[in-house]
Amino acid sequence: MRNKIIKVILNSGQEFISGEELSNELGISRTAVWKHIKKLKEEGYEIESVNKKGYRLVDFPGDVLNLENINHSLNTKHIGKNIIHLSTIDSTNDYLKRIGNQENHGTVVISEEQTKGKGRLGRQWESSAGEGIWMSILLKPDMVPYKAPFITLITGVAIVNALSKLNINVNIKWPNDIIINNKKICGILTELSAEIERINYIVVGVGINVKNMNFPSDLDKKATSLYKEKYIVSRVDIVKGILDEFENLYDDYIENNNKETVLDLCRQYSNIINKEVYMIKGEEKELVTCIDINNEGNLLVKDSEGQIKEIISGEVSIRGIKGYI
Ligand code: BTN
Repeated sequence: MRNKIIKVILNSGQEFISGEELSNELGISRTAVWKHIKKLKEEGYEIESVNKKGYRLVDFPGDVLNLENINHSLNTKHIGKNIIHLSTIDSTNDYLKRIGNQENHGTVVISEEQTKGKGRLGRQWESSAGEGIWMSILLKPDMVPYKAPFITLITGVAIVNALSKLNINVNIKWPNDIIINNKKICGILTELSAEIERINYIVVGVGINVKNMNFPSDLDKKATSLYKEKYIVSRVDIVKGILDEFENLYDDYIENNNKETVLDLCRQYSNIINKEVYMIKGEEKELVTCIDINNEGNLLVKDSEGQIKEIISGEVSIRGIKGYI
């Protein structure tokens, strides 16, 4: 019964569900509902109860992104074996770059808040305390630097796979945005420290909006969060899922040079293939049709004169004709 109650409350997302609805759905009395809710609250579930409205799940017990919670039932061999959990930092990417030479491959840094969260192309990344997953993964692969950008696509597919397993349906907006209902919930920022022929380390930063309910007005039309989209999920479960999925895909790429799985899923989940979009590079804006993602992971587009162009990730921003996408 306990799990049934949690499931019904979960399914209502950010909406309240009344005691009467719960009692009808579960086939128990309203007093029994109340007793179960009381017990869940004692276990640490944060459930808001409002007179005449009912109940609403606000938070999970122990949804703290620390080593103990994440390592428990994590199936990886090397990713996330060392997790550094901070309450605040400028940027988890910058922090990991400062300590990157000393730390082991697979180290993950997660901060509850970032005061200078970074997005792509020098943008700022809104990272309020406790609202999301602000994390960076340190990688030390023995490979040539030109192979590094593919790690962004691997990360995108790992996130999509992890969210799908939690019954959250998302799309990928090439190369590094994860989208729900045409709004962005997640971005990836991959940074590299390398010599010409050798990588020192790669830092993959992942920002996922989980609990944010209000965005600054300039972001409101293009950004959303899992809670806003009525997906009430535990951040710990999301992080575990991503690290598991990431390690499988990453190992397959490093050990077997397998790109097919990731490319196939990127194409399958993509929301821009066969669409007209604006390609923005600095001050330039060009209307193109997206054709495909090629075997290098680059985007193929057709311009207004019918010419096919290959776009390398990191060069451009993509915008939909009517808005964000
Ligand atoms: C983008 O879409 O522009 C990329 C956003 C990446 C944000 C994450 S949050 C964790 C990590 N630390 C940062 O400063 N940025 C990345």
